[in-house]
Amino acid sequence: MVDIKLPVIAINFKTYPQATGERAVLLAKHCETVANEYGVSIVVAPQIPDLYRVSHAVDIPVFSQHMDPGEPGRFTGHVLGETLVEAGCSGTLLNHSEHRMQLADIEAAIRTAERLGLYTIVCTNNPLVSVAAASLRPSAVAVEPPELIGTGISVSQAQPEIISGTVEKIREVNKDVAILCGAGISTGDDVKSALDLGAQGVLLASAVAKSDKPVEVLKGLAEPIR
Ligand code: G3P
Repeated sequence: MVDIKLPVIAINFKTYPQATGERAVLLAKHCETVANEYGVSIVVAPQIPDLYRVSHAVDIPVFSQHMDPGEPGRFTGHVLGETLVEAGCSGTLLNHSEHRMQLADIEAAIRTAERLGLYTIVCTNNPLVSVAAASLRPSAVAVEPPELIGTGISVSQAQPEIISGTVEKIREVNKDVAILCGAGISTGDDVKSALDLGAQGVLLASAVAKSDKPVEVLKGLAEPIR
């Protein structure tokens, strides 16, 4: 299994035009520069067609935004773990709020990823769903209240009880899974509050992907954990 150093800052490029194609490579290079300069763990998740070019351009871990369960040989149009490995990926998001999956498929994808050595981050929307996800034994769970996604209003400031509640409930069923949080995370203060509440990392997108000055934003995010 790929080892991801905690605390981690995971940057989801989503489908933002500023983080697509060659711009995805550039943004990933900015993430790598800040990761190296500040000595922090940063993971990037570009769009699936950009995975190969990004993973060949940087040494920081590159994650897919999604993976399907399924075996090589059929499953037209699906995203298989084996292909992610060939593309140079270290892991994958699963069940993102913008790409929900059925429970049985999440479990099957986690098991395949495990066999292939891919790190899995299962996204969830609240503490109870996070417990369900944690019981499937992924590498990490990332709780993200959907209503705060893309708003710039940080979950760690606006709904701190989601993070503390998730940490408390998950630890009753799984002592090992990494616990991340996301939605609206934009600054170092947001990262610090998240970690103070017990999270071991953050998952964010718009604050970096939509910024005109991504390096400055990344440095701000990394500052509290350098
Ligand atoms: O995957 C991260 C995400 O859903 C949060 O998005 O734009 O609020 O950081 P954003």
